[in-house]
Amino acid sequence: MYYPEELVEEVRLKNDIVDVISGYVKLQKKGSSHFGLCPFHNEKSPSFSVSRGKQMYYCFGCGAGGNVFTFLMEYENYSFVEALKVLADRAGVDLPEMEYSREAKEKAELRTVLLEINKLAAKYFYAQLKSEQGRTAYTYLRDRKLSDATITAFGLGYSNKYSNDLYRYLKTKGYPDEMILKAGLISADEKHGAYDKFWNRVMFPIMDANNRVIGFGGRVMGDGKPKYLNSPETPVFDKSRNLYGLHRARTSRKPYFLICEGYMDVIALHQAGFTNAVASLGTALTAGHAALIKRYVNEVYLTYDSDDAGTRAALRAVPILKSAGITAKVIRMEPYKDPDEFIKNLGAEAFEERIRQAGNGFLFSLRMLERDYDMESPEGRTAFMRETAGRLAEFEEDIERSNYIEAVAKEYRVNPEELKKLVVKTAVSAGLAKPAERPKATMNREKGREDGILKSQRILLTWLIEDENIFRQIEKVIGPEDFLEPLYHTVAELLYQQHKAGAMNPAQIINHFTDEDEHRRAAELFHTKLPELSTAQEKEKALRETLIRIKQNSLDERAGRLDPADIEGLKRLMEDKRALQRMKELHISIN
Ligand code: GTP
Ligand code: MN
Repeated sequence: MYYPEELVEEVRLKNDIVDVISGYVKLQKKGSSHFGLCPFHNEKSPSFSVSRGKQMYYCFGCGAGGNVFTFLMEYENYSFVEALKVLADRAGVDLPEMEYSREAKEKAELRTVLLEINKLAAKYFYAQLKSEQGRTAYTYLRDRKLSDATITAFGLGYSNKYSNDLYRYLKTKGYPDEMILKAGLISADEKHGAYDKFWNRVMFPIMDANNRVIGFGGRVMGDGKPKYLNSPETPVFDKSRNLYGLHRARTSRKPYFLICEGYMDVIALHQAGFTNAVASLGTALTAGHAALIKRYVNEVYLTYDSDDAGTRAALRAVPILKSAGITAKVIRMEPYKDPDEFIKNLGAEAFEERIRQAGNGFLFSLRMLERDYDMESPEGRTAFMRETAGRLAEFEEDIERSNYIEAVAKEYRVNPEELKKLVVKTAVSAGLAKPAERPKATMNREKGREDGILKSQRILLTWLIEDENIFRQIEKVIGPEDFLEPLYHTVAELLYQQHKAGAMNPAQIINHFTDEDEHRRAAELFHTKLPELSTAQEKEKALRETLIRIKQNSLDERAGRLDPADIEGLKRLMEDKRALQRMKELHISIN
């Protein structure tokens, strides 16, 4: 934290959230809230609400939510400090410069310089492409059916045949070797001095979501090796947190992304009108990518190459996306290699058709699984169905699982009831199996349990914020110390303090977290979807179960850490255990 929390809070208070968001989204007052079309997902009727009272926003459609800082971070892709600066400026609050730690300041300055260097390099490469020296490269791109408009839109360029002219150019602009090196644009050794990393290649600048050049991919023209050379990771270039084409895809207003493998695929798709295409940066899709995608869409279509490597990549991507809450469908490109070739040969309409025909990612993985079994023999089919049942058993949500059971039954013409029985049986036996025999299933179960407890903690925090009456009743039995996850623990402590002082202010708590990831996680905490319960009785029961679950977990944890010689600790633990027993009878009045 480089700025005092009071100052951050002052900036927040001086920027009314309704006024700020109105600058981006058309809002209409309805009751105590303002509603508009959500800028974070595509929708036709408004489910995005902004509350002046709470100074928070929330989308009932996609679950985006937070305070005024969160909004700017999500919408403009600002860091916390960037959002703070913009809002301080807007409200005329002076931010003292020296509040930065020296280290943070140096880091920010380094990033600024690296971005400048990358931008200059992109301009330089672009100018080269348009010059006489770049004729071959330009012809290469035109031969690959890219229009001038596309070349300009993606800022494509050319790194010429001289081994150090970008280096010399950047030197004339006054940048020291050290910085150019840190930007990943040159290599240096004692014998040759500094020389350009990219040499006689077509250049693809890589932009972040804010149109800032953060790195490059360079392709040889022809069959040289390596085919693509990419910038190394630098303080501004994190391959697992950026996607090629995202700066344009994020504003495409389609409710899904097309994810492909190559830069050329993205460009060809955009040129054909599919402006929602993105690709990872020469690496496999990671959980970081999935989290990034989830900020914009809940659904993706994988349009990977039709070869074995592409199929494997798609199979790996499906569960990663699923864990992030993104549904994946798979588009097949056969008989062509990739989207670029497909579009070139069959055109945009045929591609549209493939999008319509895209298969569900899970069913796609089953079709690939078929190849491991003799599907013609009864034994083979049975073994296949057993494996399939095991995979079906891993769907946590009942409704989702039964939907998939039905789809699989239909696809493989088996009786849905029998398949359901097999799934239940597999789940039960997986539950009884020893860890050594089923390491994967056990790991998933462990993880499932942990997720469950975290979810309970999230639900309770949301409940406490929404209902002071509940807070008053349960504060005697559950305290901040029972929220074990560090971030939740901090939030709980702040919340209990505010409650005690009689002034609940969740929007302020979110400010406390200035690290981008933590800020988002904290903002999410206040909008956890509560179980839909209609009667007070149902609510009480659910609430009591949530409390017991959290307490039980907290006691288990403490028991595990307890020093056997700590008699006092033991006594307290026993008391708490009795308190837990009493909680089972606890009456909570809901109004
Ligand atoms: P074209 O052959 O020009 O159509 O390229 P493509 O975009 O279809 O690329 P391809 O399917 O061969 O590869 C997909 C992606 O993997 C590329 O866009 C690069 O990001 C990455 N890639 C491909 N070849 C190499 C390589 O030799 N080295 C590295 N580091 N990355 C590569
Ligand atoms: Mn290709």
